Amino acid sequence: MSTRTLRIAMNGITGRMGYRQHLLRSILPIRDQGGITLADGTKVQVEPILVGRRENALAEIAAEHNIAEYTTDLDAIVTDERTDIVFDASMTSLRPATLTKAMKAGKHIFTEKPTAETLDEAIELARLRAETGVTAGVVHDKLYLPGLVKLRRLVDEGFFGRILSLRGEFGYWVFEGEHQAAQRPSWNYRSEDGGGMTTDMFCHWNYVLEGILGSVKSVTAKTITHIPTRWDEKGAEYAATADDAAYGIFEIAGPGGEDIVAQINSSWAVRVYRDELVEFQVDGTHGSAVAGLNKCVAQQRAHTPKPVWNPDLPVTESFRDQWMEVPANGDLDNGFKAQWEEFLRDVLAGREHRYDLLSAARGVQLAEAGLASSAEGKRVELEQISL
Ligand SMILES: NC(=O)c1ccc[n+]([C@@H]2O[C@H](COP(=O)([O-])OP(=O)(O)OC[C@H]3O[C@@H](n4cnc5c(N)ncnc54)[C@H](O)[C@@H]3O)[C@@H](O)[C@H]2O)c1
Repeated sequence: MSTRTLRIAMNGITGRMGYRQHLLRSILPIRDQGGITLADGTKVQVEPILVGRRENALAEIAAEHNIAEYTTDLDAIVTDERTDIVFDASMTSLRPATLTKAMKAGKHIFTEKPTAETLDEAIELARLRAETGVTAGVVHDKLYLPGLVKLRRLVDEGFFGRILSLRGEFGYWVFEGEHQAAQRPSWNYRSEDGGGMTTDMFCHWNYVLEGILGSVKSVTAKTITHIPTRWDEKGAEYAATADDAAYGIFEIAGPGGEDIVAQINSSWAVRVYRDELVEFQVDGTHGSAVAGLNKCVAQQRAHTPKPVWNPDLPVTESFRDQWMEVPANGDLDNGFKAQWEEFLRDVLAGREHRYDLLSAARGVQLAEAGLASSAEGKRVELEQISL
């Protein structure tokens, strides 16, 4: 039996992330499974309230998914005394205002990344959380992906020996929108609307690097707009003012203080010749592993072949076949849902969530530093953020 219901005001629910990952893949499955069960056996149910600008779109989603409430009045629902949690997946540029209002009203918050476009704003949000004492969670979805869970397990088990480096490859071709519709929203390609690869992805890379290897000490990046003209949702041509690719080198302080070098290519102007849309290879003295969204393969030192460079001969070995798959050894649920459940338990226990606004601020810091590095053509060291 449910003894309590958490009312969650969900803003930006008509968008790609808000609708698919947070409503369809997280909150509705949690609701439909009867909520979450606490250690003492009590169940706590969740009730979404859809928030957005277009009443018709909200009404349609509400009817389709048996959701009782929706509203276009963001201010009123954020401050409504019956609202427990405010969730935001709207445009990045609108986020700080919504989160600030919610925390000042004493609401717990769960939000998409990045939390802000500038480091100052991101730190201000983290400060406000500390002052208000609410529980705040920021989406760190990549760390919940099966591939990265397996990779982290290899690190914990000491599989790699001394970790030397990480190489990441992220991206795919995003259509310009002229002949074939673009598969991402047009604001992603306008810097004046908070778009850009660096802003979008470096906040992910920060927590991925922290969560797998250690904290990021510096960044050297080249960001670029490969495709300067695109066509929007209405078919109108626009200038793509934001970077659509970022090539970064990150220096990491490993668990034992050792230097680890990470390189990550992020591009929306690249065609995929990989097994997954993102892949990370970690090399260590005793072993290496390659992790994607789902799969992770590894190769031990003892099983490492000894290729000899000879451009005159065809390849004699099938290198991909020399890796062994790392098993899941358990059910790994959708990452967004898994983090939501963890966050809801933290709210109910009145404690902080491990992936909070401070971690998010470090992500914004890395994005800002990456853009500065590229603009100034130099390596940028990251100062430790304190509140
Ligand atoms: N965690 C991830 O992997 C991931 C992936 C993609 C995007 N995101 C983040 O999620 C957020 C949403 O991205 P998306 O791709 O879903 O974008 P989207 O454009 O599909 O959705 C944006 C939402 O904001 C609303 N919106 C747009 N303009 C608005 C305005 N002027 N006023 C009020 N509301 C407005 C839209 O109606 C929609 O509901 C972004 O902050 C983005 O950085 C995260």
